[in-house]
Amino acid sequence: MIITCDNCNARYNINESVIKKNETSVRCSKCKNVFVVRKQVSQSSVESNPAINNDSVVIDGIDTADRHHSAKIISVCNQKGGVAKTTTSLNLGVSLSLLKKRVLIIDFDIQANLSLLMGYKDAKSFFEVIQSKDVGIAEYIVKTQSNVWLLPSNSKMALLSKTHIQNENFEYLLRDKLKVIADYFDYIIIDTPPSGDFYTLNALLASNLAIIPTPCEYLSMQGVAHIANMIKVIRDKSAHELDYRISITMFEANDTASRVVLKKLKDEYNEHVFTTMIEKDSKVRESQIVHKPTIFYDKESRAGRQYYNLAKEIIALN
Ligand SMILES: Nc1ncnc2c1ncn2[C@@H]1O[C@H](COP(=O)(O)OP(=O)(O)OP(=O)(O)O)[C@@H](O)[C@H]1O
Ligand SMILES: [Mg+2]
Repeated sequence: MIITCDNCNARYNINESVIKKNETSVRCSKCKNVFVVRKQVSQSSVESNPAINNDSVVIDGIDTADRHHSAKIISVCNQKGGVAKTTTSLNLGVSLSLLKKRVLIIDFDIQANLSLLMGYKDAKSFFEVIQSKDVGIAEYIVKTQSNVWLLPSNSKMALLSKTHIQNENFEYLLRDKLKVIADYFDYIIIDTPPSGDFYTLNALLASNLAIIPTPCEYLSMQGVAHIANMIKVIRDKSAHELDYRISITMFEANDTASRVVLKKLKDEYNEHVFTTMIEKDSKVRESQIVHKPTIFYDKESRAGRQYYNLAKEIIALN
């Protein structure tokens, strides 16, 4: 559970089992203040409130009983690097939140770029979630801004595949953990690394929808084909309901090659290509320098507004 020092506001993630009876005193390691911590959901309130049962979890800033959202889970993936997976995950997540949706963004990439962009360096990741015997995934989720939560990544995420790839059902690690929290969010967006292996497979098997970002470049089309094929295999072999959409990123309307590749993508994937395209826009890179979503950095920016329109298109898919 998340506790906050009442003197300096430092926040800590603690295991609720350390709270004996209903409360305990703890010392803030930052300012040395001693303060009292109480269990957030006592057994008596569980029994008297039918909306809360023993499966309830405590997520920073979310009412325990507010669990009727059944999230749409979206993986953002393409094995090709630098196609705007992370940029899309962040800007789409924030745009959905501006449209009054409650959003969890998961950084599932060992590079931890998304966490860095959101101001979380070396925070606990899904690796620690899996390692922990008694602290649930909910307690690793941080509230970042209105309607946006983050499960960060760190360099230890690289160990996740090394320690689990030989295990039975290794590809369902993420799906199984998300079951506990999916009802607390409208959308869960998973940023994946530039690969089609362990991490992307885990993300896809946890998702209802895959978004494949791609610039209109010939080599990026190969990455799209790879993921689209992987999705087909998943659908055929595991009977898993998984749709996909291609998101055109960094589009340059004046560039001939871009227009040719766009036509090829539309011919091949037709209704799977989002109508909204994200143009190449220097505001994206500028916004990342100051760790802001593009639409907050410049609400008139082309890319910021296009991500907002993309979010509307995604809501309309439901
Ligand atoms: N619409 C855009 N206009 C201009 N630059 C962009 C746009 N979208 C992304 N970029 C830039 O492209 C680069 C790659 O973006 P990003 O890191 O999101 O890609 P990625 O697919 O997540 O990369 P990786 O495969 O390494 O995870 C970044 O420098 C980013 O600022
Ligand atoms: Mg990335």
